[in-house]
Amino acid sequence: MNLAALRREPRTTRSYEDRRRAEASALLSSVAARAAIALHGTPLLLLDPDRVRRQYRHLRDALPFVGFHYAVKALAHDTVLDVLDEAGCGFDVAGSEELALLTRRGVDASRIIHTHPIKKPAEIAEALAAGARTFVVDNDVEIEKFRGAPADTRLLVRLAYRSPHAKSDLSSKFGVGPFEAAHLVERALAAGVTVAGFSYHVGSQLDDPGRFAAAAADTLELMGILERRLNVQFDTLDIGGGFPASYDAESAAIDDLAAVLRPVLEPHARRLDIIAEPGRVMVADAMTLVTSVVGIAERADGRWYYLDDGLYGSYSNVLTEDVHPLIFAARDLAATDPWTGRVSAGARTAEHRWATLAGPTCDSSDVVAREVLLPDLHVGDLLVSPTMGAYTTVTATRFNGRPFTPVAIVGRGPTAGQVAVPSDVRRVPIV
Ligand SMILES: Cc1ncc(COP(=O)(O)O)c(C=O)c1O
Repeated sequence: MNLAALRREPRTTRSYEDRRRAEASALLSSVAARAAIALHGTPLLLLDPDRVRRQYRHLRDALPFVGFHYAVKALAHDTVLDVLDEAGCGFDVAGSEELALLTRRGVDASRIIHTHPIKKPAEIAEALAAGARTFVVDNDVEIEKFRGAPADTRLLVRLAYRSPHAKSDLSSKFGVGPFEAAHLVERALAAGVTVAGFSYHVGSQLDDPGRFAAAAADTLELMGILERRLNVQFDTLDIGGGFPASYDAESAAIDDLAAVLRPVLEPHARRLDIIAEPGRVMVADAMTLVTSVVGIAERADGRWYYLDDGLYGSYSNVLTEDVHPLIFAARDLAATDPWTGRVSAGARTAEHRWATLAGPTCDSSDVVAREVLLPDLHVGDLLVSPTMGAYTTVTATRFNGRPFTPVAIVGRGPTAGQVAVPSDVRRVPIV
C-alpha cells in the first residue's frame, strides 16, 4: 500500500480556516514552541525566520526581474533583518532609526532606499552620510532639501493612486498626480538634482491584483510621456508595497499578483531598474501570538474572556489597520485533525459558545474580537493567533504600563530559542 498517497492532504476539502488551524496546531505542538511558552509564559510572539526567508524567495522567484527592498517598518526585528540581509534582499527605511538598525549590522547603504516623502533636513544629512542615495519626494519643499546633495543622489517622485479597497489607502497623505509630477521633475532639474524615476504605493493590504497592474501600467505610460516631453531619461520604477497577507480570509497570493504584474513590467525590465518595497507580505505569516486567559466574566451580551495582550499591544493591527487575525483556542488545536484541520466532532459539540475577547488594559475600547466561537475556557488557557508578524510589535504601545510582548525565535537556525523584546524603533510609551 502507498502510505504517502494515503497521507496526502485533502486540500480541496479543507477550508481556509481549517488550514490555518492545522498550521497553528502543528506549531503549538512543536518542541520549540512548547519550550518557549514553558520558559517565558504569555503573551509571547513566536517568530519563525525560515518563513521570512521562504517568502522572500517566493517573491524573487515570482518576479525575478524585481529588486526587493524589505520595508523595515513592518517588523523591525533583528532576526528578520539578518535573514533578509543574508538572503541578499535590499531594505526600505522610513527614518534614521530604521537606517541605523541596518548600518549597525553592516548592511551596505547601496542596498537601502529611503522612501519617506517628508524628511527632516538632519535626517537627509544622516542618510547621505551613511551612504544612502535613493530618496522619495512629492513636493517642491522636499526637492529643495536636496540642492547641493552628492551628484549620485537619485530622487523618485511619489505618485498617488487612490485605493479605496486597501486597508490603508496612503494616497491622501502622500503622492502627486501626473501634472504635479511633471512640475516636480522640472523643479528637480532646475535644482540640479537627478530624478531617477517614480514610486507609488497602491495601499497596504490591497486584495486587488488588477489595481497593482493598473498602477504599474499608468506609471510606465507617464514615464514615457515625460521622457519625451522633458527630454529626460528615467532608469527606475519603484512599485512600492501593498501585497496582502491572509488574515480571517484568504487574500490574493504572491503568484496571483505576479501573474498580472509580469506582463506589464517584464518588457521594461532591461531598460529600467524595477524595485519594490514589500513589508507585510514578507513577515505577516512568520509570527504567531500566544496569549492566555486572565479573566472571565458573564456580561449582558454573553461571555467575555480577558487576555494578556490586546489592542494596545500586539493586536495593535486590529486597531490601526482594521485587520482581523484568526484566534484559536489551544484546546481546539489539541483536538484538531492534522490532515483535515477540523476540530474533532466530539470536541466541537462540547460546550462551544460565542464569546468576546478583550485586551488587558482598562480601556473599554480594548476589545480584540467579538463573536468568536470558543470552547469553555478557564483562566490560564492559551489562545493562538497566526498572521501576527506585520504592524504588530512595531505599533504596540506600553499603555497601562504593560511591557512589550517578547518575541521567541522558533524553527531552525543559530538563533532558535532566543527570546528578545522586539527591537525598539523609537517607541513613545503611553503609560
Ligand atoms: C513608502 C512605503 N513603502 C512600503 C510600505 C510597506 O507596505 P506593505 O507593508 O503594504 O507592503 C509602506 C507601508 O506603509 C510605505 O508607506
